[in-house]
Amino acid sequence: MNLLGEIDRTDMQSMVDAFPEMLQITTLTQEFRQSIQLAKKDNIEGICLLGMGGSAISGLLTKGVIHSDVPIISVRNYSIPKFVKQSWIIIAVSYSGNTEETLLSLREAKKKGSTCFAITSGGKMRTEVPSNRTHVLPKGFQPRAALPLIFSAVFPTIELLLGKEHIDLKLIAAQLKKTQKQWGTEIRKPEDFAQFLVGKIPIFTGWSHLFPVAYRAKCQINENAKAAAFYSELPEVNHNEIESVLTFTEKKLVPIFLRSVHETRRISQRFDITHDIYKDYGCEPVSIKLRSQSKLEETLAITHYLDRVSVNLANIIGVDPINVDRIQILKKRLASDNETI
Ligand code: PA5
Repeated sequence: MNLLGEIDRTDMQSMVDAFPEMLQITTLTQEFRQSIQLAKKDNIEGICLLGMGGSAISGLLTKGVIHSDVPIISVRNYSIPKFVKQSWIIIAVSYSGNTEETLLSLREAKKKGSTCFAITSGGKMRTEVPSNRTHVLPKGFQPRAALPLIFSAVFPTIELLLGKEHIDLKLIAAQLKKTQKQWGTEIRKPEDFAQFLVGKIPIFTGWSHLFPVAYRAKCQINENAKAAAFYSELPEVNHNEIESVLTFTEKKLVPIFLRSVHETRRISQRFDITHDIYKDYGCEPVSIKLRSQSKLEETLAITHYLDRVSVNLANIIGVDPINVDRIQILKKRLASDNETI
């Protein structure tokens, strides 16, 4: 069966529904894996991920679930921090391969002599890094819809670089399918949750590995449903955002707590008490929790669910979840400037 061929790349819902399948379509080539083994021979001081928007998310999600003595940072900018030196490994991710911030920060890393890997479907990035250190993604997807494809390259790359025990993403994909059965039982169906969000502004709040999931959800509501959304992190919200609860109801803000089965007792208490205080002020926070066996599975399961909610919201509001006209206009206007990247 040709899974890739079966996914309709003009239909966001079809791509989101294929999330578990897309997680297992491509694997790292032998050549790419060998390059990672070679890079590992030198002492790795850190891993620096480069990428913007939809291409940055996989790195952020990976960072959330991989525990390592080696620092992993994510750069979403034109340049890399000074402390990133030759002994750091660079993983540049750009679905289109033409994102200027990613290309420029990659070139800076190359100048410093760092070992660079690229994950892209084409564009200028294809020629920036030798082919044995480039993982080529299938073309034709929106970058944000390609998340499972990008993740299935970023996650094993970092796993290998750090010498971590291999996690088979096929097994995770199978689990995601099972977790999906909780939609409509343990949590609302995505379409019902989307209906609930109409006319409201969600603030997704996550702790630890679910913080990047909160950020992803915010981006998906922005890009797919063309609607405002925010994200925040617990315990930090307990030191500032909690004071703004009085305005939540007035401004139609609705806190969405991404709850984890892996929460520490203290974090659970913080979520519960925050929930109660919000309720005392007339605001009704919503909690999302899915039964899952690992932090990785939980991360991807909640991401998949909220991706689907964002597409359902787009459909209800009547906007096209595929087009990102304003992002394109901005990129075109910048490109019309003389500076060539
Ligand atoms: O989702 C999107 O389309 C954007 O957030 C892009 O991912 C972002 O503009 C960067 O482009 P690329 O992913 O091609 O590097």
